[in-house]
Amino acid sequence: MSEFQKKEADLSTRIAGVELKSPFILASGPLSFNADGMIRAFRAGAGACVTKTLRDNAAVNPVPHISSFGRDTLINSEKWSDFDASLWIEREIPKAKSEGVVVIASIGHTPEEAANLVKDVADAGADMIELVSYSEETMIPMVKIACRDASIPIICKISPNWPDPGSTAVKCLEAGAHAISAIDSVGPTLKIDIYNARPEMNSEDGYGWMSGAAIRPIALRIVSEIARKNCKELIGIGGVTRAEEAVEMLMAGAGAVGVCSIAMLKGVKVFEKLNRDLSKLLFQLGYSSIEAVKGAALPNFPEKEIIGKIAFSFDEGLCTKCKKCEIVCAYLARNLEFPHMNLDETLCRYCGLCISICPSGALKGKVSL
Ligand SMILES: Cc1cc2nc3c(=O)[nH]c(=O)nc-3n(C[C@H](O)[C@H](O)[C@H](O)COP(=O)(O)O)c2cc1C
Ligand code: SF4
Ligand code: SF4
Repeated sequence: MSEFQKKEADLSTRIAGVELKSPFILASGPLSFNADGMIRAFRAGAGACVTKTLRDNAAVNPVPHISSFGRDTLINSEKWSDFDASLWIEREIPKAKSEGVVVIASIGHTPEEAANLVKDVADAGADMIELVSYSEETMIPMVKIACRDASIPIICKISPNWPDPGSTAVKCLEAGAHAISAIDSVGPTLKIDIYNARPEMNSEDGYGWMSGAAIRPIALRIVSEIARKNCKELIGIGGVTRAEEAVEMLMAGAGAVGVCSIAMLKGVKVFEKLNRDLSKLLFQLGYSSIEAVKGAALPNFPEKEIIGKIAFSFDEGLCTKCKKCEIVCAYLARNLEFPHMNLDETLCRYCGLCISICPSGALKGKVSL
């Protein structure tokens, strides 16, 4: 093994006992519209692929139903799979399996559909099942049916649009689910085409669901909430676009990271880059494996509010004189007269914004109690 190879962390992980070569999972969406889509993503480096959601009847989508919604962010009003479930069971799942893909079959959205589909999907060779529903009330009976009809691991996908996602996750596990994935897209949301003065989505109400970069902070919070309720089998999904963000998901308690929007926007080759960058980054941060980094931030959540001051340090050698730190200070407490960084402590509220905005790391700070 070369010196270079040794400087990388082991990316293999496990969800509900199923081995994955990479923690990055292709989340349910257009890229997994059929077996070929999943095979492509798996070959590009995804550790597993979730099918587009199967229901009793194939979907017919409004036109248009996906639009760009800001940087690395999307709005969509896409429904479930536009293939009949029978096609998935007879052709697509077996085909993906024959090419070695770790297949997670997504099933929605009602207990009746779970009863119709779970057994056949498991018999078709799926490695795991991910249940999707519109509400907690339907998710719990779906879990019970899925556990009754299949012996493969059952994952429940949690929606950020439900009132208490953390408690719902616990109820799913108590009902028999083996793992939790969180989150689904956020919404409903609205994008208006200002040149035609109308919603961009042609869903029945003009609204759509947001995914990608903008939802990551919501996803992270929910993932941490579920992890802090002692859920150890957790797939974090939502807004991950690069390795640093995947590390956040892992540190918040996820053992794998679902990716949909960034793979749609950049192509499935993004999995190769995510794997390469994550492996190096984990090594640099001092973690040798996914297991080692999983939940690393959880013991460091404050138990109570922290009140104190910030002891600032300024490295003039790193300063680019951009003055961003000065501009963002609402209290006019900071003033750069290079090479001197002046701070009026009578005005400073120790909000921390100037440190977080500094692009070069010249301005740093430590909380002092
Ligand atoms: C166009 C589109 C279609 C989607 N379709 C499904 C679906 O059929 N079933 C499902 O469970 N999630 C679906 N999702 C949600 C994703 O699986 C994922 O939970 C969400 O997009 C957040 O991840 P991201 O920020 O990496 O995109 C879809 C997302 C997008 C953008
Ligand atoms: S933001 Fe950072 S780099 Fe820019 S002036 Fe302030 S200390 Fe210097
Ligand atoms: S910590 Fe906040 S208040 Fe103090 S100088 Fe920085 S931006 Fe201004």
